[in-house]
Amino acid sequence: MALKNSTDRGALERLLLSRLPRKEISTLVQSYTQPYRELMSYYRCAMMEVETKFNVLNEELSLQYDRNPIESIKTRLKSPESIAEKLQRRGFPLTVESIEENLNDIAGVRVICSFPSDIYQLADAFLKQDDITLLQRKDYIAEPKPNGYRSLHLIVETPIFLHDQKRMMRVEVQFRTISMDWWASLEHKIRYKKDLPELDHVNRELFECAQMSAQLDARMEKLQRLAETAAAEQHADSRRGERRSGPLTR
Ligand code: GTP
Ligand code: MG
Repeated sequence: MALKNSTDRGALERLLLSRLPRKEISTLVQSYTQPYRELMSYYRCAMMEVETKFNVLNEELSLQYDRNPIESIKTRLKSPESIAEKLQRRGFPLTVESIEENLNDIAGVRVICSFPSDIYQLADAFLKQDDITLLQRKDYIAEPKPNGYRSLHLIVETPIFLHDQKRMMRVEVQFRTISMDWWASLEHKIRYKKDLPELDHVNRELFECAQMSAQLDARMEKLQRLAETAAAEQHADSRRGERRSGPLTR
């Protein structure tokens, strides 16, 4: 019997499912979704690997500089709805293979740093690691987007080691300062799912706010440098004083 349309097919599917025992339905669903769930689990592992790398760098650099260059790390796995929407929008097939082949941002790691220079130092140290391969770099800090968005984006490939195989996975890493993240999060909320062509003044003010946040980053970085230099000079002075007063005698 040829099925005339999707209503017929839907009715047939419902009929078949109603005849299947609950356990078999569950097995059927499991078997259909298994490859997708497996792939998402690999992406979660890759995010964990990358997050650990940044925690290690933060630990090591905080010993060296007496402060943490990382404020916080956020990870997120792209939702099934966003994956399907993006594949469809870009004209790619809705298959598990297509997700891995065509999308770079299933696994996302956002590293929030204290100062802009921390971003470049961390990114360099991360990219030097021999199990990290850089696939794409977009520096929206050196060249902000026309709306004012600033962030450093990397797409990298990194291996995950499973019990019987090594698998290369892609991860999107976004580096932002607190100020860049604050702007991007609020801009996203203000704009989210709204088309704002006629609200030119909203766009203009958002852009101005982005510029103010960039100025604040530059000012804070300058203050940090001044404070660091002053502390280093004070330290050197007290060492000189210690040497002048000679060794302690008992
Ligand atoms: P997507 O299809 O959105 O992933 O963009 P893309 O593949 O061209 O990559 P791009 O590196 O430009 O942006 C990737 C991600 O950066 C987005 O998913 C957002 O998380 C963030 N992003 C980029 N542009 C903006 C922006 O103008 N505002 C905000 N709030 N976030 C942005
Ligand atoms: Mg994205």
